[in-house]
Amino acid sequence: MLKQKQINKYNIMKIRLFILFCLTVMTGWYTMGGNKTITPQMPQDALTLSSPDGQMVLRFAVVNGVPQYALDRAGKEIVKPSKLGFTLEWRDNMAQAFVMKEVAKSSKDETWQPVWGEENNVRNHYNELLVTLEQPAGKVASMDHSTDKRPTVMQIRFRLYDDGLGFRYEFPSVVGKQADGTPLYNALVYFWIKEELTEFAMAGDHLAWWIPGDYDTQEFNYTESRLSEIRSLHSGAQVGGGWPWKSFSETGVQTALQMKTDDGLYINIHEAAVLDYPTANLDLDDKTMTFRIWLTPDATGYGARLQTPCMTPWRTVQVCETATDVLRSRLILNLNEPCALEDVSWIHPVKYMGVWWEMISDKNCWSYTNDFTSVRLPGNPSVPPSLQGYATDWTKAKPHGRHAANNENVRRYIDFAVKHGFDALLIEGWNIGWEDWYGKEKDFVFDFVTPYPDFDLPALNRYAHEKGIRLIMHHESSSSVSNYERWMDTAYSLMNHYGYDAVKSGYVGKIVPHGEHHYSQPIINHYHRAIVEAAKRHIMVNAHEAVRPTGLCRTWPNMIGNESAMGTEFRGGIRPGHTTILPFTRLQGGPMDYTPGIFETDMGNIISWGKGNQMKHTICNQLGLYVTFYSPLQMAADFPEHYEPYMDAFQFIKDVAVDWDTSLYLMAEPGAYIVTARHPKVSTLNKAAEGVGTLPDGKKDMLSGAARYVYALPQEATAADLKNATARDVWYVGGVTDENAREVTVNLDFLKPGVKYEAIIYCDGKDASGLTGEGYNPKSYTITNKKVTSKSKLKIRMAPCGGFAISMREIRK
Ligand code: NOJ
Ligand code: CA
Repeated sequence: MLKQKQINKYNIMKIRLFILFCLTVMTGWYTMGGNKTITPQMPQDALTLSSPDGQMVLRFAVVNGVPQYALDRAGKEIVKPSKLGFTLEWRDNMAQAFVMKEVAKSSKDETWQPVWGEENNVRNHYNELLVTLEQPAGKVASMDHSTDKRPTVMQIRFRLYDDGLGFRYEFPSVVGKQADGTPLYNALVYFWIKEELTEFAMAGDHLAWWIPGDYDTQEFNYTESRLSEIRSLHSGAQVGGGWPWKSFSETGVQTALQMKTDDGLYINIHEAAVLDYPTANLDLDDKTMTFRIWLTPDATGYGARLQTPCMTPWRTVQVCETATDVLRSRLILNLNEPCALEDVSWIHPVKYMGVWWEMISDKNCWSYTNDFTSVRLPGNPSVPPSLQGYATDWTKAKPHGRHAANNENVRRYIDFAVKHGFDALLIEGWNIGWEDWYGKEKDFVFDFVTPYPDFDLPALNRYAHEKGIRLIMHHESSSSVSNYERWMDTAYSLMNHYGYDAVKSGYVGKIVPHGEHHYSQPIINHYHRAIVEAAKRHIMVNAHEAVRPTGLCRTWPNMIGNESAMGTEFRGGIRPGHTTILPFTRLQGGPMDYTPGIFETDMGNIISWGKGNQMKHTICNQLGLYVTFYSPLQMAADFPEHYEPYMDAFQFIKDVAVDWDTSLYLMAEPGAYIVTARHPKVSTLNKAAEGVGTLPDGKKDMLSGAARYVYALPQEATAADLKNATARDVWYVGGVTDENAREVTVNLDFLKPGVKYEAIIYCDGKDASGLTGEGYNPKSYTITNKKVTSKSKLKIRMAPCGGFAISMREIRK
């Protein structure tokens, strides 16, 4: 028997134990599931789906009415049990009270051919699970259908590939048959999504390469950190990036998010086929390492307004064992629909130059005059007739003398571009309005059709066509989407009339209509409309500041480029290693108009106030980018006069192709280095020039620089010489590194056995360095000619922030 004291002690102990138990449970509850719900666990009888190679396993279950999934690879947890669903306006949420009604499994193994791309054939091989979930009628009260007896039906389609998972929500319109044989409609017809609740519960505190979550820009440097460090690094990670920023959380990051586990697995969370839906950010609960989708809201605060039948974009979790496998993955493209265009003959790769860097480097301007403190464009329909007389008249203005898009300068660029085998020339600042366009949130900001007095649009197009290249149109919308929509038809018609077949559009500044964001649903729809309308008129589009691509170029291959990340325009602000991260993140969704090729890295050598703005790369690093970055649209961004002193290095930019039948990712690590080898697609080497030949004023026999190289034809050769020439077997290799110098051994075992190749090897000089500060020496390089075979191994040293490039051409007697 216990004594009273002992009894008291015993009771106190029991109470303490009980408190401890409660605390443990509460802590577990808190740390596992956040402060509202308990982290879900997958039941034993969850549905399973395996990838074709059996390595990836998806589990799905409805637990207490809540849909949830988990993902493993080779027995390792990739995504821990994670919830799915939505909160809605005006009706009960689609987050609970679900029952599973139907399950269907299927598989696909097909190979498709992209119009342009990194290879000729893309394999699309997956196993699929489609689950139909229902909130039974009568059980869930809904504000707009309170007496409705129809069920609310939501489907989730999972596609499991060897290299990752894609899943999306689908909302059918017809969900069955009534007793009398008539269709049974979904209770969901029009619905407004407040939040998407999709979670990705990570199994560890992974290393991540991330940019801050944002509704308006992705022009940021990447930060490399553990997930747990995102919160403390978040505000610093915004500095130096694009504008406007609209952040939503201290732990918010953007897709595509590249991570690496301590076991060395590469996990990437992204989106595919974002259409009629906002772009997602990821908000991290850093206690549980769980990401949740955070939608960009529209001006009224809603995520998406939908009408059945409809579906969300795909949510993707790519899982790869090596970094090179990430670059090889076509998960995002595969989850997009096949090409929607019947005739794609007018779409072609483009290697171009531009009257552009002059403005970016501040040497010259987009604007024409300093005469105006504000500008009002003629023909604004919102202005009453009595005020129309106040419209700005440029014909009477005094030029300030620094307008880059003037006839003489444009002709100089055309001559240089033609001489060196480029396909096109971009000209910015050709149209009226640039005196008063930035940061004004002005509706009627540009008209996209009226040139400045010193830009003779018809004559310059004729000049370019007669010499064998095209001009690229520029439409800076200043983010006044309402105005661009107003002008789009007229602007595209003008392009057709004069023979432009590509436009670079831009979305700098805050979106008009006010309150919308660059990534909100209505603006996503605008970008898409611009692509579709352009396709109708055989126009290729390269949008800057638009939403990051999510593989839509498979469906609309006239979307040949996008910026949508921090590109060369950020000059000295770009951190070392940036270009070794982009192929893992931004480029997963489609090519980027990064605008490489800057040989004069010191802005102080261009204008006095550029002093101190030095870019962190060597010349050879820039050459390497033409191979490590995939884009069917590649620019040589520097001035002709900056290339003239380095014509031997410039030769690589002239020779390199931009469209490929094979790509090999030889070595890679995000944030550190990439080495890639590519084999050109011979059929598109001269396609741009052939298109010019079809214009009434176009030169017929122009030969592109890459065609000259592949067919081993001299500078003065014409397209007529192709008839008697045979394409040689050609490979290009490119490498880039971060601030660390690296020696790599490039094994040329991918060359045809028994064949000899002449290689030109462009390497950083021994004393080269692209790292600013002491020892900065970005222009030091060596060029070596060498005979190589498939047995050769080349040892190459990349300088800090450096790189290398190699072109190899089969030798024929
Ligand atoms: C930002 C774009 O990224 C840049 O390329 C362009 O020159 C300016 N906007 C002006 O449109
Ligand atoms: Ca930009």
